[in-house]
Amino acid sequence: MTEEEPYTIAWEEETGSIVYIDQTLLPGQCRVVRCTTIDDLARAIRRLEVRGAPALGIAGAMGVALAAVRSTEEDLDRFRVEVGQAADLLRGTRPTAVNLAWGIDRVIRKVAMAASVEEAKRLAVAEANAVAEEDELTCRKIGAFGEGLFPNRCTVLTHCNAGALACRCWGTALGVIRSAVAAGKDVRVIACETRPLNQGSRLTCWELARDGIDVTLIPDSSAAYLMRKGAIDLVIVGADRITGDAVFNKIGTYMHAVAARHHKIPFYVAAPVSTFDLTRTEEEVTVEERNRAELAYCGERQLAPDDVAVLNYAFDATPLDLVDAIVTDIGVLRQPYTESFRLIRK
Ligand code: MRU
Repeated sequence: MTEEEPYTIAWEEETGSIVYIDQTLLPGQCRVVRCTTIDDLARAIRRLEVRGAPALGIAGAMGVALAAVRSTEEDLDRFRVEVGQAADLLRGTRPTAVNLAWGIDRVIRKVAMAASVEEAKRLAVAEANAVAEEDELTCRKIGAFGEGLFPNRCTVLTHCNAGALACRCWGTALGVIRSAVAAGKDVRVIACETRPLNQGSRLTCWELARDGIDVTLIPDSSAAYLMRKGAIDLVIVGADRITGDAVFNKIGTYMHAVAARHHKIPFYVAAPVSTFDLTRTEEEVTVEERNRAELAYCGERQLAPDDVAVLNYAFDATPLDLVDAIVTDIGVLRQPYTESFRLIRK
């Protein structure tokens, strides 16, 4: 991992720590931060220094490994309790992205299997690294399956950041875009700014421009008008959780899906199998609500009066009937999803 070509998040073997790009500083600075405590990791996740569903899965897995290697406990039962408490703390940081709990659980299962503290530490680090390495492969598969959905020449709208920064590298929705470009297609990207935290303008624009991919920034509110003008050929977004009836993704995704259907534009979702949570329905998922300051202030500048109530959902749910296809690492799933989701349940 170098400042020039970093993975979004990685395990640093020599120091037994997690290193990640602090995404709150982009696009101004690409700074790699070292994290050595669970409290710091929990804070980093809450502040969105590390964010995006697959990257949260890696952070959760590495967080459990961090708790394991940093523990001084010698008794296996007490060690497991300590690591379990760290896992619970991390699990509670962001409730909507299912990958966070998925990554944590993968490593906790290894800790539960171990016959000694030493073995538990070794297995925890190995599993966390496996979660990270698999993510790269998964994104490449999503890209390869998804790029076939793109015409040779197209303008694609995306929302939030489902790119290299939201994963270990390459990305899900932006991974499909990267794979289409790599296949020689002429792809132009329209990136929605993604208010209020601007993952679109700060992160998607940064990483696509850095790769030389044609990207234009728009305010979220102009997406429907561009569709009406015929300027968008398709929409592709990532996902934080896919239940049996809906796709949870960054707030604003649903309005793009409604507008796309109205204008007969394909609306695609790209996500790994680990993002599916088919045992739940939309109603059973907690949608994260974030603090009022994200809307009421822009840095130091006040944007809303003190006494005005603010409702700041971080995610929304798009019903599956508005989704034309879901690109996964095992292939492209289409309607009727009751049938195609059988492949996920296997
Ligand atoms: O609040 P964030 O920035 O973590 O939200 C991220 C998103 O909504 C992404 O679109 C989603 O996690 C998919 S990332 C491949």
